[in-house]
Amino acid sequence: MTAPKKKILLLPGDGIGTEVMGATRKVIDWFQSAGRTAFEITEDLVGGISYDKHGTPVTAAVIARAKEADAVLLACVGGPKWDTLPFKDRPERGLLAIRKEMGLFANLRPALVFDVLSGASTLKADVVKGFDLMIVRELLGGVYFGEPRGIETLPNGERRGINTQVYTSSEIRRVARVAFELARKRRKKVCSVEKANVMESGVLWRDEVTKLHATEFSDVDLVHMYADNCAMQLVRCPRQFDVIVTDNLFGDLLSDLASMLTGSLGMLPSASLGLKEASGRQAALFEPIHGSAPDIAGRGVANPLAMILSYAMMLRYSFNLAADADLLEKAVQNVLSAGLRTADIVEAGQTSVATAVMGDAVVKELAQLAA
Ligand code: IPM
Ligand code: MG
Repeated sequence: MTAPKKKILLLPGDGIGTEVMGATRKVIDWFQSAGRTAFEITEDLVGGISYDKHGTPVTAAVIARAKEADAVLLACVGGPKWDTLPFKDRPERGLLAIRKEMGLFANLRPALVFDVLSGASTLKADVVKGFDLMIVRELLGGVYFGEPRGIETLPNGERRGINTQVYTSSEIRRVARVAFELARKRRKKVCSVEKANVMESGVLWRDEVTKLHATEFSDVDLVHMYADNCAMQLVRCPRQFDVIVTDNLFGDLLSDLASMLTGSLGMLPSASLGLKEASGRQAALFEPIHGSAPDIAGRGVANPLAMILSYAMMLRYSFNLAADADLLEKAVQNVLSAGLRTADIVEAGQTSVATAVMGDAVVKELAQLAA
């Protein structure tokens, strides 16, 4: 009897999502038809497109499918069309609900400069050259989910908006553990980021990370940094960092910042992981860092490489297909080295190509590399 097929769920979402997922789908199909993978693939709705069809940014059925899948590949959600909806109906809630329901507490956001793109960064090439860091962002706690939250009207008629930054020791430890374990496979350096100078939750964060480090990970170098300083250090000298571990909100900000060091948001993938079960199974969702880019949606010019590299991350982390992930990453490198660029990473003297052209070029390069 053959083992049941692994299931992957594709969620293109909104905006440029359909376009970048379309290009990625060709890559996925290449792996399938080359016999390198044999996934059972389904595609479904999340975000504004789901709201338009079902009146909710994510249906219970899609959440159930996401939980049942061995891995989920999501593009991006949101757009001006849905910006005036109440919070609970917003596209972003669909993504947050999936993260929560799947238990994805650790968000891995790599940022590194592709050598051929170091000129595309807004920072000087000698500042960004060779940097390679990983942000591990806590994804299920902090101000994103903390209670109480809301907008209330005070007796004097004033309105008050409330969010709560809250962390428990176990929430801090489980994400710090992911960071330390990752660092062991990299350059063995962790920088833990909070604002312990003003926030109690930051004091607890620092304390728990320090204790975990002392008891289990003293072979890894640990430093602590305030979040504002970290933002400054990231643009001053990004090479000093290996793994950065931080909370949900600081991670959101710092990962956008770090990704821009690379020259384009359109290049970076991410992975969100749950706890590894005894069976070895681990909930996982892969998505590009970029958003739905409503300004260019529908024009076929978006960069599909972050989405394609998210698929490479899926092959590597969820299915242990390192050789296939390497092959795909190499194909992307080669296509860039050959001078192919989408509009977001184009440099003087180059012409930019469409989303589909970039996707097809990666597929062609895959076929050539594998031949
Ligand atoms: C991200 C995004 C999301 C977040 C939004 C779309 C809810 O900015 O994944 O970084 O804030 O987490
Ligand atoms: Mg963000």
